[in-house]
Amino acid sequence: MQVMKLSKVKKLKGVIYPPGDKSISHRVALISALSTGENLIENFLIADDTLSTLNCLKNLGVEIELSDKLRIKGKGLKGLKKPGSVLNAGNSGTTIRLLSGILAGQNFDSEITGDDSLRRRPMMRIVKPLRMMGAKIEASVDGTPPLKIFGVEKLNPIEYELEIPSAQVKSCLIFAGLYTDGKTKIIEKIPTRDHTERLLGLKTYLEDSKKIIEVDGGQKIEAKNYFVPNDISSSAFFIVAGSIIPESTLVIKNVGLNPTRTGFIDVLKRMGANIEVENLREIANELVGDVIVRSGKDIELKNLTLSGDIIPNIIDEIPILAVAGAVAHGKFEVRDAVDLRNKESDRIKAIVVNLRKMGIDVEEYEDGFAFEGVKKLKGALIETFNDHRIAMAFSIAGLIADGETIIDNPNCVTISFPGFYDVLKNLQN
Ligand code: S3P
Repeated sequence: MQVMKLSKVKKLKGVIYPPGDKSISHRVALISALSTGENLIENFLIADDTLSTLNCLKNLGVEIELSDKLRIKGKGLKGLKKPGSVLNAGNSGTTIRLLSGILAGQNFDSEITGDDSLRRRPMMRIVKPLRMMGAKIEASVDGTPPLKIFGVEKLNPIEYELEIPSAQVKSCLIFAGLYTDGKTKIIEKIPTRDHTERLLGLKTYLEDSKKIIEVDGGQKIEAKNYFVPNDISSSAFFIVAGSIIPESTLVIKNVGLNPTRTGFIDVLKRMGANIEVENLREIANELVGDVIVRSGKDIELKNLTLSGDIIPNIIDEIPILAVAGAVAHGKFEVRDAVDLRNKESDRIKAIVVNLRKMGIDVEEYEDGFAFEGVKKLKGALIETFNDHRIAMAFSIAGLIADGETIIDNPNCVTISFPGFYDVLKNLQN
């Protein structure tokens, strides 16, 4: 696919089964690899990012087989093999940061890198605490990949308060904590997605309104059968689409509704969107439900300011929330989101550049942006910056804009949602 052309649609209707959750898929693969025995994983996300994790694990000697389910034969905590070549995390921050926590505890040397985008992303946020645990790890001079990790006999348990709210840093340290002889305590001031601690069944509690996560080193990880819920962040594009395209009704099935991920639904409801959850249930320690979104003839959403502790909860949904804000009344503002500049692209820049192309007068800040919503967006040539979430967010914008919208590199959606454009097409019939 060279470019993708989109134009205004009358309405969207249908039932959607989004792909499996990306965050949970990465974690389930890594945890399965460290287990003792055979793991069967249902609804694992097959997309470029999670394939990067599987390829790294194969390079570390893990047996992986994909048929209707994913089968991973665990090697135990100490059973990984020195990789035959440099590990390649591709575009995936989750792969490099989480796997580094595991590699730091091995008795062999390894090196891990990624694509042009990943080689620009900050790694000192994991290197610093891993070194406190006794890891021998080097980043490039500007603190980016490749990471060179040297073998050690074991790591030391630490008590560490996260300097920035990041589930990737937290999860990296949880994995490293498995390679100590004692109890590692990770302290979180602002909550972030908690899939790793849920999957490993770790002890967590609140102390002075901070969350403490305890990891016992050396614990045996049992092999399991896993079910991965559908990805709420992939669902977000349709939840917004159903809220801003008149006379739409969308039913999005089996969505993971972990409270550390549902912030954007609360935001959209506060803006006036009509979103309901049905069939709410718990599967494997995660909430799952169907999300129903409906819109009337006239879309009347109200804008708001997003800042403070909610930001980590909605971090991946800010591009699509900005698209909702673009056609809502009043001022839409995002602050305290400087880490958006360190994602697959500089997402503050990507949002600002593309909203301006669509006719919005946007003010850019170091930690966010602000604009007044408009009645009509203009079709434009969208620069994705090779970022899957920018491509998908502005594809939805293209469905309400006047004139044609062209997405420069639609193929980048394969990072998290390979069938995105087919699903979108089917809703227009
Ligand atoms: C993720 C955590 C978040 C998020 C990313 C996935 C995860 O990153 O933006 O898409 O799976 O742990 P940070 O930990 O850098 O905030």
